[in-house]
Amino acid sequence: MVFSIPITLRVATLVGALLATSLLMADTPAPYRDPQLTPDARVADLLPRMTIAEKIGQLSQGCISEKSHAEGPQRNPVRDGNMGSFILAIAPALSVGIRNQMQHIAVDESRLGIPLMFGYDAIHGFRTTFPIPLGLGATWDADLVARAQAVSARETRAAGIDWTFAPMCDLARDARWGRVAETFGEDPLLNSRMVAASVRGLQGDDAGSPGHVAATLKHYIGYSAAIGGRDYNMTEITPFMLRNLHLPSFRAGVQAGALTVMSSFNANDGIPVVCDPHLLTDVLRGDLGFTGFVVSDWEGVSESVAWGYNATPAEAARRSLAAGNDMEMVSSTYRDTLKAEINAGRVTLATLDEAVRRVLRVKFQLGLFEHPFTPALEPEKTFLQPDAVALAREAVARSAVLLQNPGVLPLAKDVQHLALIGPLGDDAVEMLGTWPGMGRGQDVVTLAAGLRAKLAPGTTLEVVHGCDLIERAPRTRTLMDGSIVADTSAEKTKSADIATAVTAAQKADVVILALGEPRGWSGEFASRADLTLTGRQNELLASVAATGKPVVLVTFSGRPLVIPALPAGAAWLHAWHPGVQAGNGLADVLFGDIAPSGRLPITFPRSVGQVPIYYNGYTTGRPDKRDYRDLTHKPLHPFGYGLTYTTFAYGPARVIPSAGADTPPVVTATITNTGPRAADEIVQLYIHDLACSEGARPEQELRGWQRIHLAPGEKREVTFFLDDQALGFFDRAGHWKTEPGDYYVWIAPHADAGTPARFTR
Ligand code: NOJ
Repeated sequence: MVFSIPITLRVATLVGALLATSLLMADTPAPYRDPQLTPDARVADLLPRMTIAEKIGQLSQGCISEKSHAEGPQRNPVRDGNMGSFILAIAPALSVGIRNQMQHIAVDESRLGIPLMFGYDAIHGFRTTFPIPLGLGATWDADLVARAQAVSARETRAAGIDWTFAPMCDLARDARWGRVAETFGEDPLLNSRMVAASVRGLQGDDAGSPGHVAATLKHYIGYSAAIGGRDYNMTEITPFMLRNLHLPSFRAGVQAGALTVMSSFNANDGIPVVCDPHLLTDVLRGDLGFTGFVVSDWEGVSESVAWGYNATPAEAARRSLAAGNDMEMVSSTYRDTLKAEINAGRVTLATLDEAVRRVLRVKFQLGLFEHPFTPALEPEKTFLQPDAVALAREAVARSAVLLQNPGVLPLAKDVQHLALIGPLGDDAVEMLGTWPGMGRGQDVVTLAAGLRAKLAPGTTLEVVHGCDLIERAPRTRTLMDGSIVADTSAEKTKSADIATAVTAAQKADVVILALGEPRGWSGEFASRADLTLTGRQNELLASVAATGKPVVLVTFSGRPLVIPALPAGAAWLHAWHPGVQAGNGLADVLFGDIAPSGRLPITFPRSVGQVPIYYNGYTTGRPDKRDYRDLTHKPLHPFGYGLTYTTFAYGPARVIPSAGADTPPVVTATITNTGPRAADEIVQLYIHDLACSEGARPEQELRGWQRIHLAPGEKREVTFFLDDQALGFFDRAGHWKTEPGDYYVWIAPHADAGTPARFTR
């Protein structure tokens, strides 16, 4: 006899068993919620629970602006698990509330409760805006950069942001490109050290710990080599140049532990980088060992269609994901097309899973599952704290580069009558530069305010506008959410008041001219075809200089400027866009409380016709025939250059051979302070590899530097190791290699000085 359980009983038993399991499950959190497990183990548990749509959601990033949020929070895509991340382009007064509101939807209402990850561009500070990165590069001080980025991280995280799109690793070789402002300069070693320091500052030892954020190495790769210096243009970087020039700073950032990388807008050799498996996978993951996730740049995936590489958004999504671009910023090709691509078998589940795995791993590393919400913001206890402001002031003073000084500087504090002339003398917002984070004009100490604070009682400071910064409105402007619109503000240029400026100069003992370029003329989509002062500033400079009064030119810009009208008798201090402490830091330098120690991280050309120009060019086969018919090939001021209030003499470089297998040879030189006061000097090591079997090497390459402080008359012997690190290059297979053979090595104050010593390895 067959004993059979009635069907109703069987169903009841099954339901009972399921209920019991789910009750049990309600008590026992799923393993992916267990912080004791490793991120990899948690991902391994979570991934199989996810639907394809939820997986694609983790690869999708939107943007929330105050306007878009007011129009209606993006509740549904978050609740349904179709959105894993947002750019939070929201002022701090609202950002924490909006973050938490959206996060509650993700954590409490979505099926698996996977938290959102919020990103924002805090590039050189959040509320405490530091000098632009090019200015930070001019400090040659990686420790200072790490400290500045730590302040930035602290303020950023408190405002509800987990992840910042910094540091920029791009190499600045073309001053027409507006984004040189966001780089640390033109040299791979300087860039590498500043990038690594930035990652250390932003992420700390643990990006998930309080006060830290995930860093992004951007823009991978070659974005800065845009032909003609025109933003977004194509690039033609060859493999050997890629390895030796553009990759080292990314490699340094990966080694420092950066959790994310942003793919770049450019198409190199015809292939948009966002779709290039060789660059995004073979090189980035294979050679560099990157294990985090790659986010595209803003609409970068969909733009591969506009490039003419992909025929459809579906093809763009498929190729980008397969290449190794894990998350899509803002455009929606992944959300719109990947599911169908998977169903059609054109994208494998394994490819999808790998990208999701990388994103989830970072979310676990950031501690978002344990701490999804941000505590209420206390702005007065968070922003512009005394240590942050003091550091910003120090950074301004350290970043300023003294380019010319026939004895006008430092100024005497009891100078009787000072005139501050020019459109940037008392302008707050312009000091903030491009990508100012949430920096505000009201927090800025202008140059006028900084000078006033130093002047002895009884001294007069006359501040005169002189002329406007621009005579016409720029063609475009960038909104806070990153979108670019035509500029219809049609700023009205005030009537130029050069005559008033001349009268003020005539009455003054010393004139400070505060000139430059508008902050919106550098940064994204802000390439320039001309590198001179904008508007009528050249005319203002010439008219004031013609009074014969001692002139100090202080320039503000996001790039090198070309100033043909600068008289030899004037001093010139280049201040970049210095941030909130502009006036105080510059006054410290102008009055000599701090001796300048900034050195150029980028070459200053004589004419835009020399661009692209950089110190690590080639001898060519005809080294004596490198000039133009109408101009030298030499720059106005070379990489590494900068004066101070004393002078240093460099003794000859001497090579001391290796004393045994464990001690590399060294090169040494004696530096003497031959001037009247104590100051810092940045002592630089350059090399030239005379014959390299894999491809010619540059005429000079920076391979180290040391900051020394010398009192008047004091000497110091400075020594650098000539080890494999100092002498090598990346071979065509991507390995560091040092060849036997002849080298020149020398120790110098900048890239166009010093006497090479020959050395055979
Ligand atoms: C576009 C820029 O190229 C990139 O640097 C930035 O991080 C993103 N927009 C997000 O704002």
